[in-house]
Amino acid sequence: MAVILAGGTGARVGLRVPKQLLKVAGKPLLEHTLDVFETSPDIDEILVMMAPGWTEDAEKIVRNAGFRKVTRILEGGATRNDTTRLALEAIGPDDAKVLFHDAVRPLVDHRIIADCVRALDHFDAVDVAIPSADTIIVVDDGLITDIPGRDRLRRGQTPQAFRLSTIRRAYELAAKDPHFTATDDCSVVLRYLPDVPITVVEGSEQNMKVTYPIDVFLADQLFRLGSHTPPSPLSSDQASAMLTGKTLVVFGG
Ligand code: CTP
Repeated sequence: MAVILAGGTGARVGLRVPKQLLKVAGKPLLEHTLDVFETSPDIDEILVMMAPGWTEDAEKIVRNAGFRKVTRILEGGATRNDTTRLALEAIGPDDAKVLFHDAVRPLVDHRIIADCVRALDHFDAVDVAIPSADTIIVVDDGLITDIPGRDRLRRGQTPQAFRLSTIRRAYELAAKDPHFTATDDCSVVLRYLPDVPITVVEGSEQNMKVTYPIDVFLADQLFRLGSHTPPSPLSSDQASAMLTGKTLVVFGG
């Protein structure tokens, strides 16, 4: 099953409504995201965890789009981890496979979901990540203390996928820790169940998180490109069109 984490308010986008309700390419971000999971052959059921006070908006989206796999829409918590915890209280059984996905990553695709579900046949915890094009620096008190080799670094995305019993156990241990803080779910497993290996599935550049106002614009443009996927590498026709600047380069199709 999939849990769509839509419990946030989107403070960094800074509008009156949570960012998951913003329309890009004609549809709310939440609807785009739900559509990918609804149409995935690997997902049987979807739980939506919505920002408190906004569940009616989510219900309307689900009703109008006719999403049949969405069985429940519940209110999220004060932090992303609180939202995950509330979702864990609402679902079962323990050996189920569960994928947690950010509602604000609307360009996730079926391949990533399928790879996560398959990886759970061999591992109890799965992350999705892509290489980092930027050099990542570690800064303490305003000074660089480390520049880890880029070949070891990845940028974490979602979904993050688990055997339900594993993520439950990790959260039970976290609940006993007064110093618990985290921004994702794999770090809860890494910290409280260090013996559980977490495998990594390849994500995609398109699977971006809408975090800042510029991301709303970028997501909108990516949807308007159609297939979401500029080819990699570019075809020789596209490359020469870009070099001469004479022809509009069209991706997708
Ligand atoms: N999320 C959640 N419950 C929370 C906070 C976040 O389910 N209490 C979800 C968001 O809705 C989003 C995902 O976690 O889909 C990623 O979080 P983030 O981008 O940080 O979203 P917000 O918390 O809404 O953004 P901000 O930090 O700018 O307020």
